Amino acid sequence: MKKVKELRSIPVMQAANPGGMGGGGGGRGRGRMGAGANFRFGSEAGMAPAGMTLDQEETMEMEMAARVGNDRMARHQHDQDVFHTLLRHHEQIHREVTNIPTGIRSLTTSENPDIVKLLHDHVPAMHHRLEENFGLRYWDPAFPEIFAQRDKVRMEVTLVPNGALVEETSEDANVVKLIQAHGLVVSLFVQKGFAQAQQQSPLPADYLRIT
Ligand code: HEM
Repeated sequence: MKKVKELRSIPVMQAANPGGMGGGGGGRGRGRMGAGANFRFGSEAGMAPAGMTLDQEETMEMEMAARVGNDRMARHQHDQDVFHTLLRHHEQIHREVTNIPTGIRSLTTSENPDIVKLLHDHVPAMHHRLEENFGLRYWDPAFPEIFAQRDKVRMEVTLVPNGALVEETSEDANVVKLIQAHGLVVSLFVQKGFAQAQQQSPLPADYLRIT
């Protein structure tokens, strides 16, 4: 119960509620405008490549807002709050992944209902972002790759009472390797939390990149 209380005090729990996608966000990014720097989503606090300061992050967020509009920026911030909270509480998440010839089947669950709510938010949100090519984590090649290959990826999400069941497949053998690599990345996030999220994600040596 204590852990549930801790979670409830995290702002994302308000953001994750009614309206879900697109309703949350805000809060951060209220900083001074800065110069230069190509913007990329994915410079999340604690996950950006080494050396980025919070001031630099704030500057990047202001630039994102200016380029993509506040609605999308708020949506990204909501998504980021959600996956940060999942990473922070990774030890309360269980995951089983089965590689099948065309991709993966995964079951990701938690006994904590607040974590389940976040999984119910995150998984459809990422599915939607993939469909509309609203990328993130550009510094980590495995992520631009899956967005670039999205037309060849089929993702079927079933929300179950304690988590999410996903089947992610492709008819393209190369993309199957990418999907299986992503399945492993999510499992590593679940095992190691932020320690993994700061690392570049492994891609198989025989996967042929298109980005
Ligand atoms: C403990 C943390 C996390 C959990 C439990 C989680 C869970 C999931 C699950 C269940 C899926 C569906 C595909 C699958 O089952 O493999 C998924 C997909 C996705 N997640 Fe997460 N995730 C986490 C962290 C993150 C982070 C840190 C990011 C990016 C910064 C992210 C971005 C995505 C994206 C883009 C997809 C769709 C593409 C794909 O299948 O990989 N996730 N996540």
